[in-house]
Amino acid sequence: MSLEQTPAVHLDALRLVRGGRTILREVDLRVPRGSITAVLGPSGSGKSTLLAALTGELVPAAGKVELFGQPVPRSSRALLEMRKGVGVLLQGNGLLTDLTVGENVALPLRAHTRLPAALIERLVAFKLNAVGLRTAADLYPRELSGGMARRVALARALALDPPLMIYDEPLTGLDPIASGVIMSLIQRLNHSLGMTSIIVSHHVHETLPVCDQALVIANGALVFSGTPAQLQASDDPLVQQFLHGRPDGPIAFDTAATRRTEAA
Ligand SMILES: Nc1ncnc2c1ncn2[C@@H]1O[C@H](COP(=O)(O)OP(=O)(O)OP(=O)(O)O)[C@@H](O)[C@H]1O
Ligand SMILES: [Mg+2]
Repeated sequence: MSLEQTPAVHLDALRLVRGGRTILREVDLRVPRGSITAVLGPSGSGKSTLLAALTGELVPAAGKVELFGQPVPRSSRALLEMRKGVGVLLQGNGLLTDLTVGENVALPLRAHTRLPAALIERLVAFKLNAVGLRTAADLYPRELSGGMARRVALARALALDPPLMIYDEPLTGLDPIASGVIMSLIQRLNHSLGMTSIIVSHHVHETLPVCDQALVIANGALVFSGTPAQLQASDDPLVQQFLHGRPDGPIAFDTAATRRTEAA
């Protein structure tokens, strides 16, 4: 197989276990380079767990995870190196409140490169410009709206030009307009910077239009993978139940999560 054909992500018979419980089993998946993949599924189905296997945070109980043809390493030094190539945007944004927007975006560049300060400053300006926040460098996170803060976190995730971007619920807490801005930014950046993107989202209607491939996780397995059009047309009762948000159907209720909520 030539390098061009090596997928950005290749999962083979993957099994993921957390707290002694199998969360996902027999996951086979190829994410082509340059594509955008949506990972959909009910709460507690294992979407974030799947992302944790991609970043090497969770070691698989069985099966294989390869990024750009390379197995995700186990040693912490090699893992650190690999993670430079994976941009991650988590739900909480994770901006440091005592640092300005510019300093937040500069963090990965300061931590992982030895570039001179003047060059870092120019790269930061470039990244902020890419997310439409050219003039926000000197603001503090508390001065930003939710949508702006999400875009700063996006600029920071892009700082090292990662070939793979992973988004976990990028629209949480945003209004429809800010959500539209974020989704079109994700799409535009993916194509203009030649990246591959994986988006975990509950927001089916905002996410499907920008993606090339959609996956549905439910009942401990990958129950659907195909194009958004194939997803909409699927007559699989699991897929239908999820797409239409029906409480009754073949998707089992997450009893472990329920027990925890009740105990809280
Ligand atoms: N660190 C952990 N230890 C034990 N169990 C865990 C851990 N993290 C997650 N789980 C369990 O794994 C299952 C999948 O969790 P995960 O966070 O991947 O779901 P999710 O699909 O991302 O849900 P959501 O849409 O609510 O974010 C859940 O049942 C959860 O309780
Ligand atoms: Mg999650």
